[in-house]
Formats: sequence, structure tokens, C-alpha cells
Amino acid sequence: ERKLFIDALMSKMTLDEKLGQLNLLAWDGSLQTGAAANSGVSEKVKNGLVGGLFNIESKSTRMEIQKLAVEQSRLGIPIIFAQDVIHGHRTVFPIPLALSCSWDTELIERTARAAATEAASDGIDWVFSPMVDVSRDPRWGRVAEGAGEDPYLGSLIAKAMVKGYQGEDMAQPGAVMACVKHFALYGAGESGRDYNTVDMSEIKMFQDYLPPYRAAVDAGVGSVMTAFNDINGVPATSNKWLIDDVLRKDWGFDGFIATDYTAIREMGAHGIGDLETCSALALDAGIDMDMVSEGFVNTLKNSLEKGTVSMDEIDQACRRVLEAKYQLGLFDDPFLRLKDNIAEEGQNEEFMNLALEAARKSAVLLKNESSVLPLTKGQKIAVVGPLADSKKATMGTWVLNGDTSQVITVLEGLRKRTAVSYVKGARLTDDEALAKLIGYPMDEQSSEELIEEAIEVATFADVVVAVLGESAVMNGEAASLADINLQASQKELLQKLVETGKPVVLVLLTGRPLTLEWEDANCAAILQCWSAGSQTGNAVADILYGDFNPSGKLTMSFPRKVGQVPVYYSMKTTGRPFWEGVKYTSRYLDVPNTPLYPFGFGLSYTSFDVSDIQLDKNAFAENDTLTATINLTNTGEMAGEETVQLYLRDLEASVTRPRKELKHFQKVFLKPGETKTVRFKITVDDLMFYNSELEYQAEAGEFRVEIGLNSESTKTAIFEFVD
Ligand code: IFM
Repeated sequence: ERKLFIDALMSKMTLDEKLGQLNLLAWDGSLQTGAAANSGVSEKVKNGLVGGLFNIESKSTRMEIQKLAVEQSRLGIPIIFAQDVIHGHRTVFPIPLALSCSWDTELIERTARAAATEAASDGIDWVFSPMVDVSRDPRWGRVAEGAGEDPYLGSLIAKAMVKGYQGEDMAQPGAVMACVKHFALYGAGESGRDYNTVDMSEIKMFQDYLPPYRAAVDAGVGSVMTAFNDINGVPATSNKWLIDDVLRKDWGFDGFIATDYTAIREMGAHGIGDLETCSALALDAGIDMDMVSEGFVNTLKNSLEKGTVSMDEIDQACRRVLEAKYQLGLFDDPFLRLKDNIAEEGQNEEFMNLALEAARKSAVLLKNESSVLPLTKGQKIAVVGPLADSKKATMGTWVLNGDTSQVITVLEGLRKRTAVSYVKGARLTDDEALAKLIGYPMDEQSSEELIEEAIEVATFADVVVAVLGESAVMNGEAASLADINLQASQKELLQKLVETGKPVVLVLLTGRPLTLEWEDANCAAILQCWSAGSQTGNAVADILYGDFNPSGKLTMSFPRKVGQVPVYYSMKTTGRPFWEGVKYTSRYLDVPNTPLYPFGFGLSYTSFDVSDIQLDKNAFAENDTLTATINLTNTGEMAGEETVQLYLRDLEASVTRPRKELKHFQKVFLKPGETKTVRFKITVDDLMFYNSELEYQAEAGEFRVEIGLNSESTKTAIFEFVD
């Protein structure tokens, strides 16, 4: 039926109208995230020269445009409306990196579902999410938008998000089309600088970086966005091997592929050629929609005449875009998502509760010396820090339609509990150049003056809660940093607070891991909250007062010093693994190889004990399974949730293998004194890897299984895989 409908429609379309469907434009005067912008969009819509639009602020504008497309363009083909819905739409959930620290894929799916419901209610059909770029470099600002360093966890999260956005049927109320991005390897840009070049071996690519994109494809994602970067010399946007061979042929992806913002135009700056050449290359590689460049719509006609592209290629791309519109129900009803509110009465409260649950579960307790936390009622609390009462910073990056008025800051959350004294305490930054770049209006008071006020307030308190970190624009796109320490102004405030001798609880709102060696050595407690969205303040208050026992686990390693980057748990051993006291081993002279806080790490207010591992056998073969069992006991005094993590190390293989890889995990809730048995089934799938011929296979030999509550402190056992 779909095919017949699209065949019939395409038979009526002119070449210009077909090219129009490949044209994805940003609304006039909207957020410009690249060198070019679009103009005269309404007129182009009327002329049938636009397939999709994004960055439109209001539903009423979408409505007007859809009317233009449907009622005034010759064939009345509806527009597909897109938006960057990255961690919620009106209700803002924690940034994706934060959400990943919940290790709770069911929760993450629910947040995507809620975001879809709100976005669909606003007339949005298509969301530019999930971003699944594996990244091991906290200098890169966009780590905030992904799920961290691990391909296995990243793949599960990618799947959950696609399911959440798209539901079972994208034409159903409250569902939208997802767009997995940025294909591929955008998270591996050299030196952590955004948009930078990527050079990577194929083994590493297939083993560590491609799995989450593939997981999204396997979950049925409707669309893919290509990356800005080049890969081994070819821009992702014109990379035929990547798009056609890997994505389409090997993985069987049959949805449509869009570029990123002006990515075709940028191929000129990459040094590939003029807009006409680059547009032809991109189409030939398999791109269906050109975002903002207007290269397809303006140059493909010429290329067709010259024979550098074929009519089949244009038809194919046009068909894919029309199919997506069909799947979204837009041909049945172009106003499907533009009519009444699909979001039901009372859903705001439901979504706010979900935002609270998500913010609580995303926070990671990094330190809690002498159980300074939870705070006790009656303690006098001083709250300080430039982020304590900033709604924008609290919401995080990429919040285009978030309802700022609903955001609860940390100060507001704590004030609901107790009367606290508050002063700002420092400027966000004293670095004028940075302040200018991020649009931060320098406070009139100097940091010295602000710090003085903070010390005075701290003197009368029992505990100081310092809320520090990054504003929303200090991470996200185009926000790489070479120095990932706290800003000097904030660090100085913290140092002076510590000097008062009062216990300092550091609450960090950031979009990336920072280097926290000094903070770890000197603060009484550290709670990594990230930019946690609408309910941040309530979640922080619940955690600080012990009404919620923190359970988040890091999904990115925190380096001690930026010079260690990339530092990640699944590094290889090298032929000279570090050996204490031996000079010629792989090490730094000035800092340990290990991160400050490893992947999978996060404390609780209670304590847990992991028993030794029991294996049901010492060896297994391909069609068999091995069961690894541990007992987990809550040895403390508070109920709490743990994430039991299972890692594998291939001890003998034809290629060098990581020192460990996450293969399974389970979340377990235990009352004080309670013990639960946790069983993991290991199958041949867990042992597979890419060999030097890029064959995905398992090799016979010894393996080490490690089970623990973070990637570094584990119990171990050895087993054998036999042919
Ligand atoms: O979706 C984004 C992408 O992640 C980065 N460049 C701009 C796109 C559209 O806003």
C-alpha cells in the first residue's frame, strides 16, 4: 500500500519537487549552529522546495507552515517538523550523560517516551536524538549528550531511547521518529576539540565505537544523522563505505539519512570541492536529506545533466523521505501532531515526578567522608556558589523548549527543607574571554568580594553546601575545554571555604567529568549531579537529607589530570603493563595510570559486600552457557540499590584485547542486612570480538570474569572457552 501510494505520488513530481523533499531547512532567524542559515523559508515551502524544517519555536508557526505546504504547494506534500529534543521537551530531564549514570534503561526509555509525548503535542514529528557517540574524552563538550565511554551500556541505552521515542508505531499519538547521531565516530575527534578529525583503526571502530549506532538500527530507528568529522580521510557525510556498505548493506538500515547542519557545505572547508561536487558526492554516498546547505536543491540538477549523479539516486532519496512521512502518518493527516494536545491532563505532574526520579537516580556520590551526608535536621546550612540558584545552568545544554519557570534550583530545593543562608560566593568565571564566549555577564562584585561574603556566611553554619561547576553553555556543542578543572574563581571559593574548617559538601552541576584531585582530597563530600533538569533542586535535597539513597554509577572515568586523557576502564594492558617499582613499564612519572574515579563507580549511604564468584563449571563450549553467581549483602543501615557489574577479559587471543569489558549488569535493591543471589549467564556472544580480518568471532582459551560494584574493585574467577 505504502509503495503504491508513493509510486503514484512520485509519478506526479517534477525534478524540483523531488529535490525539494531532500531539503531540510532551519527556520529563518532561528538558532544558527553553523556558518550558514536559511532564509525565505515560507516562500520555498509554497513552491514545494522544502521537505523538512527544524528550529521552529512555536506550534502555531508549525501550523501556519503546514497549511502553506498542504494548501498552497502544488502537490500538498506535508512538511516533516524536526527539533533537537535531547533530554526532554517542556519537562527537562537530566542530560543524557547523567541519565546514563542511572544504568536504568527502563527509566531512560520512559524519559524518551515522555519527551516524545510532549514534543508530539507541540507539532514535532522527528527528534534529533539519541546521540550515541561513544566518547572517552571529557574535553569534548558533547560528552554531555551521550552515554559515556562504554559501547555495551551505550548500545542498551540507544535501544531504549529509540523505543521510547518511536513506540511500536510512529503514527500513534505521542510517538515521534528518532534520529540516531552522529554517524559515525563524532565522539573520537582528535584532542577533544569539537568537529575535529578522526583517525581510527577498523578493529577499534567496530569493537568500541560502532555498536551503539548499530543497536539503534536494530531497534528500528527511522533515521540517521551523519557526523561532521572525517574518518580516515573521508568526511562522514560523503563516506560511501560508511553509509552504503556498513549502514545500508551490512546492517540493513532502510530508513533515511540526513546530514548534520551545513555538513555538505563544510566538505568545502574539509578541502573536498565546491558545493556542487560535494552535494553529488553526498548523494552518491547515500545521503537523503541535506540539512541547511541547500546543496541538493540548488546543484543536483546540474550534476544530473553532467551525469555525476543519476535520476535513480535522486528518486531513491526522495522515496525514503516520503516513506518516513508516510510512516509518521503525515499523509493520512498532515496536522496529526498539530491538532489538540496529545499530552493528557495531569501529565505534567506525571512527567515532573519522572524528572525527579531521573534526577535522583542520575546523581553519583563520589565521596562521603565520616558520613557527613546525609545531613541531619537542625544543622545550620550555608549554600554558596554561582550555580546554586541558576535555573538555566540547572537545565543543561540543548534545552530549546524547556519550561524554565518550572525548574527547581538546588537553593530552592533545600529551602523547602530548612532555612538556609545563601550567597553566590564567586563569579562563574573570572576569565573574561571565556565569559564573553559563553555570554556570561560578569558580576559587578569581584570574586574576592563575593568570596568574603561566602566566608562570613560559612562561619555561622554547621555545614557548607557549595554548588559549583558549569553553566549550560560551558558544555554541549562547540564547548570543548583544554582545562577541565573547576574555574579558578570557583576553586578559590572552595579553597577558602575548606580553610574555615567547616565540612564542605560539594554539589557539582556539570556536563562533563572534571579533574577533581584537590576537591577529592579536601571536601567532606562530593555529589556529582550533572545538569539534572527541571527537578534538580528537589532531587539534591532528597539526597542530601537522606530521603533518597544515591545509587548512580559513573559512565565515564574521571581523570586525575587532563594529560591522562583518554583514560577509560577498557584500555589495553600493553606489552609492559605498569608494575610498581619497575622503571620501563607503561606509566607516567607524575600521576598514576588510573583515573581518580573509575567507570562504574558511585557510593551509597549504605555499604555492600560482594561474595566470591561461584562458577557452575570451569569450561564451556559454543552452545552451552556458564553461570557466574555472587551473593550481594547490604551490610549497612539504610536500604539501597546497587548495580552489580560483570566484566570479562580474554586472556589469550589472536589480537590484543582490552583489560576488561562490561558484559552484563543487574540492579539490585536491598534492605539493611538483606542478601540476594545475583546470577549472570555468560554465553559465546559475550566472548565475541573482531579479529584482524574483521571477523566477529570467539576464540578458544582462558577468560577472566570479574564481578564487582565498579570497574576496578572486583572479585575474579577464571574459566575456559573450548572449541
Ligand atoms: O542535531 C544537531 C546536531 O547534533 C548538531 N548540529 C546541529 C543539529 C541540528 O540542530
